[in-house]
Amino acid sequence: MRMSQDLAYAARLLLDAERIVVFTGAGISTESGIPDFRGTDGIWTKLSPEDFQLDRYMRDPKARIRAWQTRFPKMFGNAQPNAAHEAVVDLWKAGKLLGCVTQNIDGLHQAAGLPQELMAELHGNSDGIACLQCGKQYEPDAIEARWIDGDLDPHCDDCGGILKSTIVFFGEVLPRAELLRAEQWAHEADAVISIGSSLSVYPAAYIPLEIASRGEVFIIINNSPTDLDSLASLRLDGMAGTVFPQLVGAITAG
Ligand code: APR
Repeated sequence: MRMSQDLAYAARLLLDAERIVVFTGAGISTESGIPDFRGTDGIWTKLSPEDFQLDRYMRDPKARIRAWQTRFPKMFGNAQPNAAHEAVVDLWKAGKLLGCVTQNIDGLHQAAGLPQELMAELHGNSDGIACLQCGKQYEPDAIEARWIDGDLDPHCDDCGGILKSTIVFFGEVLPRAELLRAEQWAHEADAVISIGSSLSVYPAAYIPLEIASRGEVFIIINNSPTDLDSLASLRLDGMAGTVFPQLVGAITAG
């Protein structure tokens, strides 16, 4: 009963919103089989975040070898978008989505049908591989083939530099165009819905914070407390794949 009261209240708060920013974290993809970072069984309970610090990656071949082992083969297996990703597309088709700012690198929002121009991938994505020295771009499949053949710490053919996926590591600058787009949307939004994020990592979490600080509606959908619960209009405690489609249905129904 409680959930439906909260859901009805969230829907009422969002009813007049027409420029909604959806902010997503790893929790929107766990129902697609991709683990999150800080939830129970999260990635940081198995791997060390230190291996994903840029300076450590540059300095330590063993850290690079461990990082590539999380990337190949097939980083996300055959993960498919779930009902929550599809509900973001429904919000867009209802003309209420200003943009989707994601911390995720799994590409599931685009796989669900969201156009790239409505995306801001703050932490990069797993689509590219580049040389850190000369910037030469590589096709991931080509580097995966080298990795499978035993090249566990691939270097650049041209300059011998270290290769790295276009995933943003800790200590690395966020992609400028993505951050600017997200900040532009944060100034224009009339509501923000955070889905499946602990809201504990900056500068990404500044995006919902900026919208909330302008007094706009800030809804959190998460199955555990987040760092920004105290600033939210409301936190809907539940599974993204269940709660968000219900909320989108309530605010787009006729
Ligand atoms: N439905 C709702 N909430 C969920 C679900 C689900 N199906 N699955 C997990 N969650 C919640 C978890 O309880 C957790 O609070 O989603 C949240 C995910 O938080 P994090 O694991 O911290 O992920 P995220 O917020 O995306 O992390 C931000 O930290 O490690 C870096 O770069 C990495 O982009 C990542 C950033």
